[in-house]
Amino acid sequence: MYILALESSCDETACAIIEATHEYGHPQHRLLVRADVVASQAAVHARFGGVVPEVAARHHIQNLIPVIDEALAQAELSLTDISALAVTRGPGLIGALLVAVQAAKALAFARKLPLVGVNHLEAHLLSAYLEAEIPSTRPPLPHLGLLVSGGHTSLVLVHDFGRYEVLGTTCDDAAGEAFDKVGKLLGLGYPAGPLMDRLSTSGDPSAVTMPRAMLGAKRGLQMSFSGLKTAMAAHLQANGLPDSEQAMADLCASFQAAVVEQLCRKTALALDKHKLPAVVLSGGVACNRALRAAVAKLCAARGVSFFVAPPRLCSDNAAMVGAAGYYRLWRGERADLSLNAVANLPL
Ligand code: KG4
Ligand code: ZN
Repeated sequence: MYILALESSCDETACAIIEATHEYGHPQHRLLVRADVVASQAAVHARFGGVVPEVAARHHIQNLIPVIDEALAQAELSLTDISALAVTRGPGLIGALLVAVQAAKALAFARKLPLVGVNHLEAHLLSAYLEAEIPSTRPPLPHLGLLVSGGHTSLVLVHDFGRYEVLGTTCDDAAGEAFDKVGKLLGLGYPAGPLMDRLSTSGDPSAVTMPRAMLGAKRGLQMSFSGLKTAMAAHLQANGLPDSEQAMADLCASFQAAVVEQLCRKTALALDKHKLPAVVLSGGVACNRALRAAVAKLCAARGVSFFVAPPRLCSDNAAMVGAAGYYRLWRGERADLSLNAVANLPL
């Protein structure tokens, strides 16, 4: 079975083709990524310092068909080989989402194919189910999902495919948004997360004191990252921009350590409370090396298994949409041609 998946919720126009090798439940069942094409608009939005919704929608319209063509070429398949379609229907920028939703509906109508709408957050959460070579390498159910992206930061109890319980979430900025905003203050361009990650590797995380928010017991699994932006702004006002490469690296590492520590403490708290056998890290910030290492260490210390998709499948892509779509199709879900995009679609 080949699933063609589309994603256009923010500034990435993406198409992927997923091959489900066997029925779900078969011992050799695997979801293979046969094609994974992402046209990023990051360079287009960089000069604005963030994503401009209308510009994003216009670029999706331009890029979507070439991206689909490229995915089919990569998989060495044609549209006649495709068995089903999956598309992100939310959450995201409404004008951007509508582009892929409408394209998927047109394809479903023209080729009489089953179609499912997918939640973007669910797609991130299930990204670690892709390309699993043998069943034992797949995350068990239930597990704890730590979803850390540019738009969302949540701890999710994944009971089963399609059954998600949000245990805690940020009450202000997402962690990725904090990376991008702080990076902007430091003059590091947009999106700043990947560069701050790289710079941090040669920095001293204890060089500058950054606040550790929401650690009181009554805060539970609530998180907060906007105070870090304020702390960085105050630091820069008092000290000016870093005057050397080392000072910049130290500042990035200090900020990153505060983000990672908050995420790890909340993950540990969730594990204490819910006694789950595994943690699955996902979302664009899951590319962050310090975060991957810290969550892996935390899991090892508790005897809990740790899963994370390769970086390519953590940041926005359509392969994860294909994975989430597969499990919806397997449950018998079908969308009709009234399928619509929803900007604030809950998990
Ligand atoms: O999941 P994603 O691609 O898009 C959303 O759904 O939001 O996440 C994008 C976010 C951006 O804020 C970006 O700066 C951040 O992920 N990011 C990183 C790294 N790579 C991407 N943040 C920290 N370290 C990284 N290596
Ligand atoms: Zn995303």
